[in-house]
Amino acid sequence: MKRALAILLLLTFFGSASANAHQPVELISTDTTAAKGPLLLDGTVSFAVRASFNKAGEKRAFRADFKAGDALAVQYLILDKKPENALKNTLLPQLVLTSPSGKSVTLKFTERTKFFEPYGKTNYLYLSRYNAKAEAGTYSFMLTSRAKSAVTIAVGEREVPGEVIRGAKPTPTPTPTPTTTKASYTMDDVKKRSTSSACWSVIDRNVYDLTKWIPAHRGGPQAILFLCGKDGTSAYKAQHEGASTPMSALSNYFIGPLTP
Ligand code: HEM
Repeated sequence: MKRALAILLLLTFFGSASANAHQPVELISTDTTAAKGPLLLDGTVSFAVRASFNKAGEKRAFRADFKAGDALAVQYLILDKKPENALKNTLLPQLVLTSPSGKSVTLKFTERTKFFEPYGKTNYLYLSRYNAKAEAGTYSFMLTSRAKSAVTIAVGEREVPGEVIRGAKPTPTPTPTPTTTKASYTMDDVKKRSTSSACWSVIDRNVYDLTKWIPAHRGGPQAILFLCGKDGTSAYKAQHEGASTPMSALSNYFIGPLTP
């Protein structure tokens, strides 16, 4: 995974006293598509996503992830000051929400409710609120400006610290696959690996690549070197038969069965 991933806001949480202490996220000029914009990893956590525009026709976008049935709560706010509060609704940025299955909604401006945000000591106006049950997956939020203006899109209601990332989502690290695994091995294959730089051994008709175990063995490297390139069953059993720790250490080095 490339390090294109940046955790932007983890601890900039404002506190939990107010139902409106949304965690701030600033959209930047390169956030022109949902894929380029930030991703709110849990859309139920309260975020305040801010975007500002210099002129008509500019785009800013972001994404938010939800689980099926999560509360999707979106509010459209503007500052209660010029130029925004003097703009007609038709000149304010348009917000289009697209669900993971591709259903789009354009937020309608249905109110102009004053709201004082005590943390930032800022006067806002609510213009629209949208509530729905979320589909599972990533929603995209696309803002398109129609004049010089700025908006705040509040998403989520849970007052806990949230995570915001840019770029691709972190993918689980794939399990490393051994490069040498084959269906089975012959005793000849084993005989060819009889040194400290390639040490294979057979124990109970299973083939093990013990190369990396040589320096790690608690009982010393010599004991393992002694098994390289041959059937080590009796030496192993003489020391460790019935013991679970050596058996579980051994299992890490299994590469395949000995050919019948
Ligand atoms: C592939 C073969 C082997 C594996 C995977 C293996 C694994 C282990 C492990 C995991 C331990 C630590 C056990 C514990 O403390 O719980 C151990 C200790 C030991 N092993 Fe082995 N072993 C192998 C072969 C041998 C052989 C052939 C000998 C004898 C010639 C031997 C002699 C010892 C001795 C003496 C200890 C005790 C060291 C100590 O506790 O200070 N091992 N081995």
